Amino acid sequence: LGVGKLVKADNINDIIDHKLFSEDDIHEMCVRLGKQLTEDYAGKKPLVVGALKGAIYFLTDLTRQMDVAHQLDFIDVSSYGDGFESTGKVKIVTDLATDVKDRDVLILEDIVDTGLTLKFMKDLIKKRGAKSVKCCAMLNKESRRNVDVDLEYYGSKVGNEFVVGYGLDFLNMYRNIPYVGVLKPEVIQKYVNK
Ligand code: XMP
Ligand code: MG
Repeated sequence: LGVGKLVKADNINDIIDHKLFSEDDIHEMCVRLGKQLTEDYAGKKPLVVGALKGAIYFLTDLTRQMDVAHQLDFIDVSSYGDGFESTGKVKIVTDLATDVKDRDVLILEDIVDTGLTLKFMKDLIKKRGAKSVKCCAMLNKESRRNVDVDLEYYGSKVGNEFVVGYGLDFLNMYRNIPYVGVLKPEVIQKYVNK
């Protein structure tokens, strides 16, 4: 799937089948999770790690609901090739800049699906000597999990549908939609197997 295929990309209003989580829903998730994380990380100075690129919208809203002194870093690992089906392999695209040794690390994710990406990140950070490694994801596609990994915090469960918006992408597009919506099946059909 090359950039050429994206030149005639559709407008946002034409690709969403229906809205799943509104801006208010997402705000409520951030408030609730922010309170919980404020309690759980009280007295600690966690390193909050945003999983690029999908988690950036969630990260900016959630961390502003956390009354906890923390530092930020980012990691970009990819398992999804170009499309939307996992390739089954995870690789580091951009590594952390911070030494995680003895740190309490909180990974923020847009969505945990099979769990492969999260397990890779957790194992990597543990191996480097972090004191603790937990994850908070906006969405939990629990029915698709096929690796054994704990997801300590999440905003909501979501069914087995392909969702976009609020960081979630299709072909690295549509992250800026302010809510989470389900992609029209025909949009996926248009781009797969091409
Ligand atoms: P795994 O399978 O490793 O996948 O847990 C995690 C990554 O897969 C992407 N993903 C999605 N992205 N809508 C998206 O825009 C979805 O419905 C979806 N499901 C999985 C996502 O990048 C996540 O980090
Ligand atoms: Mg992602």
